[in-house]
Amino acid sequence: MKLWAGRFSKEIDKKTNDFNSSISFDSRMYREDIEGSIAHATMLGECGIIEKSESEAIIKGLEGILADIDSGKLLIDPNAEDIHTFIEGELTERLGQTGKRLHTARSRNDQVAVDIRLYLKKEVKNVKSMTKELVEVICKKAEQYADAVMPGYTHLQRAQPITFGHHLMAYAEMLMRDIDRLECAYRHMDEMPLGSGALATTTYPIDRTITASLLGFSGICRNSLDGVSDRDFCMELASALSIIMVHLSRFSEEIIMWCSWEFKFVELDDAFSTGSSIMPQKKNPDIAELVRGKSGRVFGDLMTLLTVMKGIALAYNKDMQEDKEAIFDAVDTVKMCLTAFTPMIDTMKVITANMRKAAAKGFINATDCADYLVKKGLPFRDAYKATGTLVAICIEKNTTLEELPIEEYKKICDIFDEGVYDAISLENCVNGRKVLGGPASENVRAQAARVKMALEDI
Ligand code: ARG
Repeated sequence: MKLWAGRFSKEIDKKTNDFNSSISFDSRMYREDIEGSIAHATMLGECGIIEKSESEAIIKGLEGILADIDSGKLLIDPNAEDIHTFIEGELTERLGQTGKRLHTARSRNDQVAVDIRLYLKKEVKNVKSMTKELVEVICKKAEQYADAVMPGYTHLQRAQPITFGHHLMAYAEMLMRDIDRLECAYRHMDEMPLGSGALATTTYPIDRTITASLLGFSGICRNSLDGVSDRDFCMELASALSIIMVHLSRFSEEIIMWCSWEFKFVELDDAFSTGSSIMPQKKNPDIAELVRGKSGRVFGDLMTLLTVMKGIALAYNKDMQEDKEAIFDAVDTVKMCLTAFTPMIDTMKVITANMRKAAAKGFINATDCADYLVKKGLPFRDAYKATGTLVAICIEKNTTLEELPIEEYKKICDIFDEGVYDAISLENCVNGRKVLGGPASENVRAQAARVKMALEDI
């Protein structure tokens, strides 16, 4: 029997019921639905809208339902319309007439809006702490490899020397911004819509401050139409999650490259790699590839939410039921990715010798060679040209700037002396870049320490 049975003379068509139902995906909010109902029933009792004894009976009944679902004694009916209908129906079955009073001064529209906020508030905290864990692992590794020289790239061409620690800390910066974005989405979902009713509140003398404080909301939605029809917090969360996936995906792409024999900068632990069914020699970075691939799902979820919401006239419309699968999938996917990604990074073996070898080829100290001439008084453009000529000579002689004899240098520009070898030593090139944000080992260590300290307040 449907909630609206009075107005209707026929049962809903079976297949249409399946189409209309959201129980298959909103049943995961059973705890939040019951918490919301307990707060609502408490408030109804305190405001004298229902008898205190009725309020108490409803609360006990709801607590019993929660315990029974938790223990598996009560199974959620897959044919119910949604989780709200199921729990109210079960309450009425258990309490009779009294159960029917719970829905006084409430609508499923403000009920679902409060449920999803309560549910997502918990999930944001989970994603935040998982992101924090990844940043901690990154900082630890960055400190460990603050001196490991590697080539920094632009256009995937070797550009200037950096350290592996510096490279890793770039991801720490991205993830710290991600945490900030999660917190912003959290703030917006931390306002309580309950009391908005179907769209225009109610004439009952409800007290929304009671429910808000019982449910732990920091604020209360100040416009009832917005209260029931706002899903900005879903879009904001999906957007924050999408950006996390962009970052994990870029990191994954690098891991995949670094694992190849062409780079061999890292080797993943056996527990976080896979083999091939046919090629016995293979060790594949499947986890990183899957994380890169799963970013598409999360972006898709964001697109779903934006598209669902963009054409809806105020206030609630059933289209909005489509919010849940999208935002749940985005949250589940990011959590799954982080679960595998963080220990994969934590356990990966870093092959610093290969990084150092790669840094020695490709003339990534050419800028420093030019800067050496500038420091000796040559204008940068002339220094740039002289160094370019030297690089061409090295390529022709199949050697490096470090190995090119001083006579060759002097042929191109007589300002050169033995000091050039010091100026272009990769370690000096890296450690000379002490400017704020630079790759010098001491900078990387200080930055890792700063980030770790910031994490303590999160
Ligand atoms: N299952 C619905 C949803 O997720 C609950 C709200 C139903 N309200 C309504 N007026 N049909 O949006």
